[in-house]
Amino acid sequence: MPPQYRQAGPDNPSRKVITHVCGIVGYTGADPALPFLLEGLERLEYRGYDSAGVALVEPDGVYVEKAAGRLSSLVAIVDKSRPAHVGIGHTRWATHGPPTDDNAHPHTDCTGRIAAIHNGIIENYRELRAELQAAGHVFSSETDTEVIPHLLEARAGYSLGDAALYARQRLEGAYAFLAVSADEPDAVVAVRQASPLVLGLGETGNYLASDITALLPYTRDVMILDNGEMAVITGRDVEIRDGAGTVVERAVSHIEWTAEEASRGGYPHFMLKEIMEQPDAWSDCLRGRIGADDSILLEELGLCPGDLESVDRIQLIAAGTAYHACLIAQRWIEEWARVPVRVDVSSEFRYQRPILSPGTVVVAVSQSGETADTLAGVSLAKDAGFPVWAVTNVVGSTLAREVHRVLYTRAGPEVSVCSTKAYTTQLLVLALLADALAGVHSTEPRASVIPHLQSLPGLGAEWLSERRSLGPAITRVASSPSVFYIGRGVDYAVALEGQLKLKEISYIHAEAYPAGELKHGTLALIEQGVPVVAVMSSGALLPKVRSNIMEVRARGGSVLAVIPESLAGEMDDLAETTIPIPTTDERVAPILAALPLQLLAYDVATSLGRDVDKPRNLAKSVTVE
Ligand code: M6R
Repeated sequence: MPPQYRQAGPDNPSRKVITHVCGIVGYTGADPALPFLLEGLERLEYRGYDSAGVALVEPDGVYVEKAAGRLSSLVAIVDKSRPAHVGIGHTRWATHGPPTDDNAHPHTDCTGRIAAIHNGIIENYRELRAELQAAGHVFSSETDTEVIPHLLEARAGYSLGDAALYARQRLEGAYAFLAVSADEPDAVVAVRQASPLVLGLGETGNYLASDITALLPYTRDVMILDNGEMAVITGRDVEIRDGAGTVVERAVSHIEWTAEEASRGGYPHFMLKEIMEQPDAWSDCLRGRIGADDSILLEELGLCPGDLESVDRIQLIAAGTAYHACLIAQRWIEEWARVPVRVDVSSEFRYQRPILSPGTVVVAVSQSGETADTLAGVSLAKDAGFPVWAVTNVVGSTLAREVHRVLYTRAGPEVSVCSTKAYTTQLLVLALLADALAGVHSTEPRASVIPHLQSLPGLGAEWLSERRSLGPAITRVASSPSVFYIGRGVDYAVALEGQLKLKEISYIHAEAYPAGELKHGTLALIEQGVPVVAVMSSGALLPKVRSNIMEVRARGGSVLAVIPESLAGEMDDLAETTIPIPTTDERVAPILAALPLQLLAYDVATSLGRDVDKPRNLAKSVTVE
């Protein structure tokens, strides 16, 4: 029986709650805690969030105040006369589930004496929740976070630090949490497991935060917690213990960054920060969605059992960068699953009379989930009675609320107007969808793509850490009035995204072509020194692209080749500059190929002194037609 489509709701896995890139602050010391907590949260606002809350340790329990929406909603209701000297604060940015008061952090245990805040994903929260409920614990939110205070409560009689070590043993996933207890009124406990936490040493007390930005007005002396470590801080002492529970010494680092630099993690622009964050975003995107046998866990992805079987055809709609992700997904879905796919730019789709046959699923892809044209396309498809799914990065966005299924990209907040990590995580989610469709619809034997997707974070991180300057190529591109990008097959779509990046932030005219199409007109524009970026992410059709490059070279064009390391030698006689990317399975190579193209655009734009994060005439979210 085909799946029944209904609006995403609390009983629908598309709305499963996972908190992800949140802001965390904590204080213990001689000063009242609340002013720091509120200021610290304000300094973390740039990260994006959908609710905020604080917990203050008081003699008779923990005072908690929290509110959905802006920090100002919390400030309006919090009792500012509370003198507590110990507290924690949180801004929540959910990747799944509704941003409500109940789901806002902090969360408390059954007694109201323990409170916790958390960033990241607890993969085994369902099992833990069931176990704790069976033992009599009562939950009051849909979050994964709430298992933390109840796990700490389950260790009644132990110190808060020992209870936190127990919780760390029980929790699976990538996360960081802070907790306080009215039974240990001086202490804040912190656990870091793959989500950043920094400890600040102040004159009057000690601090904790997910991000140095929150601490800078108070202290520049910090200790960075490593993965697996747990810290207990009081106003006078700091104790850090490693995974085995052994006390470790940690050197104090003095931070020289300005507050603005710190909000960008020390990078000169959000765009560069977001480019460099991609391997982590890829890990977050895949986390918990792959089973032990390399199967895709559909419910974790945002789908329901039976959703894929009834899909006969897919209509993808999106704008800008998201449209380019769709063009790549079209190739993947058609090639791997043999399911026909049509891709339309949303602003065109909305005014067409699309022929959507029965069995068509419309998939709208949008980072913001607020793009007016894409939302209009969604309405059109829904009014025509078709199931509509979304791939988006923003929980609670209009798109997420409007569609029947939501597949979240989990890229974390993307601040730069120029989309980078949102794009590559869209590709990852679409690759998972394509692979899942192939599992249902294709009878052709094929090697699993999953191990290759899983190797991407490592390959990407290694490549980014070795980033070399492109020197003369940057100068050549920056001084050219026009740049051309070419590629064949899926690399044509990769090239389209590359040229958009360059155009958008450097203001240099750029165009992308299927490599074989140049000779049908555009070759007339190639003359001495005109830069041509040739994308060959996997080396597929390499001899054909080589011929096209020769046509360019014969007219004096200057070629910059993006090609797997193992094939880089093929470009020795042709390319002025070769950017080798890691050699990997050709199906996932387009995701890696995005990295050099993003960095090329970034380097060119910065060499021209452009306002990279806020390019002229553009908005992060295009909410008008
Ligand atoms: O939020 P969306 O993904 O729907 O936005 C679509 C485009 O406006 C967006 O991708 C735009 O092209 C980017 N600025 C490109 O970097």
